[in-house]
Amino acid sequence: MKTKIDFTLIENFISEKDFNNIEPEIKKSWELLTTKTGAGSDFTGWIDFPSKEKNSELLLKKIEATCEKVKNFNPDTILVIGIGGSYLGTRAIYDALTPAFCTRTPEIIFAGHQIDGHYHANLLNYLEKRNTVVVVISKSGTTTEPAIAFRLIRTFMEKKYGNESSQRIIVVTDKNKGALKSLANTKGYETFEIPSDIGGRFSVLTAVGLLPLGLCGFSIREIINGAAECEKELLSKNSIQDNIAMRYAAIRQILYRLGKTTEIQSSFYPQLATFSEWWKQLFGESEGKNQKGIFPASVVFSTDLHSLGQYIQDGTRNIFESFLSVNKIPKDVNIPVLNSNDDELLYLEGKSMSYVNNIAEKATQIAHAQGGVPVISFDIPELSEYYLGELMYMFEFSCALSAYTMGVNPFDQPGVEAYKSKMFEMLGK
Ligand code: PA5
Repeated sequence: MKTKIDFTLIENFISEKDFNNIEPEIKKSWELLTTKTGAGSDFTGWIDFPSKEKNSELLLKKIEATCEKVKNFNPDTILVIGIGGSYLGTRAIYDALTPAFCTRTPEIIFAGHQIDGHYHANLLNYLEKRNTVVVVISKSGTTTEPAIAFRLIRTFMEKKYGNESSQRIIVVTDKNKGALKSLANTKGYETFEIPSDIGGRFSVLTAVGLLPLGLCGFSIREIINGAAECEKELLSKNSIQDNIAMRYAAIRQILYRLGKTTEIQSSFYPQLATFSEWWKQLFGESEGKNQKGIFPASVVFSTDLHSLGQYIQDGTRNIFESFLSVNKIPKDVNIPVLNSNDDELLYLEGKSMSYVNNIAEKATQIAHAQGGVPVISFDIPELSEYYLGELMYMFEFSCALSAYTMGVNPFDQPGVEAYKSKMFEMLGK
């Protein structure tokens, strides 16, 4: 794996002995995961999905054929309807690879990831002027938020495009069951299947993420290539020294036992803000159960150094930080040389902004570590489809290891039902 983990700044918090002590537990979790014999093993289809897909190419070819068909409509907007694992991965990759102020055609926008009437009313207005193709994604096919949004959007599409609307709507759902599947059969929508052994938050590397990203022109082959390479490595190495996912799981679990109950994923790149949203769902929903779990939070610096930075430096010492560092950015800009110190910036004249950003990152890591926050860093070569596929697979793998080591089933989410049953009761369902 090209992304490396730098853990030099946890030396004051974790010793070699701590690693040696926890290694047998992490190895046990690795065994449970890779032999598919742990809790929730019915939902471990994602482990070998990238290599299977790379070899069979069935899904990639089907998506590419759909992309060709959709080009006939010349869409400027791909509307993704979904919530949780059915949209966060797409959004993470889309944002990471779409720099600020660069418009993509087609763009991807989202609906049904909340039920704010104002948002959806404005969305309907916006879509009046757009040439839209809809991808509606729901594994269960019954989730309330996307179901409401899809009813709105289906009605809109039928009014705007008439019979053609059924070709402009694509469904990603379970192979056999759910209201969405029945609707797709009745209306004749093209359908992609979410494998029954892959749960929502582990599904970004299936049609759930690949279809919308493919429709938008991203290299879905590169995403799968990166994930498949990572899969090969993580399935063949089972020591904390050689396996980055095991190392990360070990660090998290050692720190958790030392009372570090919050992990903050930090980066100096605004494009990674929604990547952290995907990561938070993955870890929060997988680990947070049975009164256990590390609370996943995120910040984007240097913006948040002027907000949560104070707390991280100086607040309750129950936190640790994992940075997403990017080694190479596509474009940069230099600070103008004016031979002037009017703004007290003479010392930075001619330096690139990424130079300053990198120094700010290193300085922040050191300051936080000195303030009592264990800091690790993932050094990502650059933001590309390949490296994001690699990274997402690694986080999924490490999350499952970490949950097993904590003694929880990573693949269920019983706690999500509580709000639903209350809401249904109050709505009179
Ligand atoms: O990880 C999960 O399983 C959940 O977050 C789901 O992705 C989310 O609840 C959406 O479910 P569905 O795809 O069934 O609509």
